[in-house]
Amino acid sequence: MDTGSILGRLAALREEYAAGGLDVPDLAADPYLMFQRWLGEALDAGLHEPNAMVLSTVGIEGRPSSRMVLLKGLDERGFVLFTNHGSRKGQELAADPHCALLFPWHPLQRQVRIEGTARVLEREAVEAYHRTRPRGAQLGAWASQQSQPVASRDELTAAYDEMTARFEGQDVPVPDHWGGYRVEPETVEFWQGRPGRMHDRLVYERDGVGWRIQRLAP
Ligand SMILES: Cc1cc2nc3c(=O)[nH]c(=O)nc-3n(C[C@H](O)[C@H](O)[C@H](O)COP(=O)(O)O)c2cc1C
Repeated sequence: MDTGSILGRLAALREEYAAGGLDVPDLAADPYLMFQRWLGEALDAGLHEPNAMVLSTVGIEGRPSSRMVLLKGLDERGFVLFTNHGSRKGQELAADPHCALLFPWHPLQRQVRIEGTARVLEREAVEAYHRTRPRGAQLGAWASQQSQPVASRDELTAAYDEMTARFEGQDVPVPDHWGGYRVEPETVEFWQGRPGRMHDRLVYERDGVGWRIQRLAP
C-alpha cells in the first residue's frame, strides 16, 4: 500500500461519539470509586487489557516521555504499578515524581486522565505482588536491565538462561532493582465523547481532605 492511500484513509477516519453522557449527578463521591465504576464497565464490555495505561514522566530539562504500563492495584491512596527502578521511567521518577496516567478506553468513547505524584511502593506490597507473578516473569525481572542497550537478542536470552539456572529448584526472590509505585492523584478527569465534539469532561481536583469537581470545555 502506498503512502498516499494510507494518508487518504487517515483523512477519512472520523468517529462520532454518541455512546453516552456524563454529568455531575452521575459522579461517585470520590475519583477512586468513580474510576472503579468505569473500570468495571470496561471489564464488562470485554475491552482488551483495560488496565493498560500510559504513564508519562518528566526527564532532564522538563522533557516528557510516555510508555504503557499495567495498573495492578487501586485504593483510596492511589494507582499502583510495577516496574524496574533502574529503567528510564524509574530514574525519571526518582528525580521528579510528578507524573501522569492515561487510560485510553476507545471502545467506550472514554478516557481517564490522572495527574499526581509517584511514591515508591512499600516492599511488602512489592513482594506480595511478585509472588503472584508467573515464574517466567519473575526470572525476566532479574534478566532484564530495563531500558539499557543490549547488543543482541542472544544476549538477552543468555541472561534469561543464566537466571533460570541460578534459581533452579528455589523460589525466585524480588530483585532489589524491581518494585512499584503508587501514583497519588491531584486531579482525575473522566472524559466521555459526545456528538459534535461537545464532549463531557468532569475533573476531580484535590481540595484539602476532599475533592472539588469541575466541568471543563471539550
Ligand atoms: C500493554 C503494555 C503493558 C506494559 N506493562 C508494563 C508494566 O506494567 N511495567 C513495565 O515496567 N513495563 C510495562 N510495559 C513496557 C513499557 O511500555 C516500556 O517498554 C518499559 O517499561 C520501558 O520503559 P522506559 O524505558 O520508559 O522505562 C508494558 C507495555 C505494554 C505495551
